[in-house]
Amino acid sequence: MSEKKGVKDAYSIKTPEDSINLYRSWASTYDSDFAKQNDYRSPIEIGKYFDKYSNHKDTPILDVGAGTGLVGECLDESSREIDAIDISPEMLNIARLKNCYSKIIEADLTKRLLINDNHYGAIVSAGTFTHGHVGPDVLDELLRVTRSGGLFIFTIHYQLYKQAGFDKKILEIEKSITKPNFHEVSVYGNNLDKDHGSDKVIITVFRKK
Ligand SMILES: C[S@@+](CC[C@H](N)C(=O)[O-])C[C@H]1O[C@@H](n2cnc3c(N)ncnc32)[C@H](O)[C@@H]1O
Repeated sequence: MSEKKGVKDAYSIKTPEDSINLYRSWASTYDSDFAKQNDYRSPIEIGKYFDKYSNHKDTPILDVGAGTGLVGECLDESSREIDAIDISPEMLNIARLKNCYSKIIEADLTKRLLINDNHYGAIVSAGTFTHGHVGPDVLDELLRVTRSGGLFIFTIHYQLYKQAGFDKKILEIEKSITKPNFHEVSVYGNNLDKDHGSDKVIITVFRKK
C-alpha cells in the first residue's frame, strides 16, 4: 500500500515519466483523498466558466490532462462530445468509469499528438499547466488540433504565469487568438496545507482566430 499522495508530490515532479509514476500510485485515491478532502475547486470553476463563455458550436471538447475526469463531470455532457487526454493510464481508467467521455486518449502532451488539425471545438483543462506538469509550449499543439473559432478555457498556476513563460507565450501566439480574459480563482475551498492551501490559478479564456 503506497503512502498518501498530495499536492507536494504533484509539484515535485519534473518529467512526463515522473507524472506516469506519481499518478499510477495516486489514481485510486485522487478523488476521495485529494479532491474531496481539500474541496479542490478548479474543475468546478472550469465548468462554471465554460457555461459562461461557450456556445453550442464549441464541440467536440478535449479535456487536457483529464486525470480521473473531474472536469468532464462538471461539464454538461448531454449535448456535447467530450474526449479525455492524459499520460496516466491509471487516472484514465478512473475517468472511463465516469461515463462522460466519448474517447479516452493516452498520450504525452509534450509530444506531437495523433489528432488531426482543426478537430476540436473547445479545449478545457484544470490542474495540468502547473509545477512540473506541462508548460506553455503545449499550447502550440493544442492550437493545431483546434479549429478556427474554438474555445480555450484552462487553468494556469498563478505562480507560474510569468515564472514558466506563459506571459511570453500568450504574446507569441497573440495573432492566432482573440484577446484573452483572465480570472483569478482559489484552487481549494478547504486545504490546510500551509504552503499550498491558498494557491490560486488563472483561468485563461480565448478563442483560436
Ligand atoms: C493534477 S492532475 C489534474 C487532473 C484533472 N484535470 C483534475 O483537475 O483533477 C494533472 C494531470 O496531468 C497529467 N499529465 C501530467 N503530465 C502530462 C503530460 N506530459 N501529458 C499528458 N498528461 C499529463 C497527469 O497524468 C494528471 O492526470
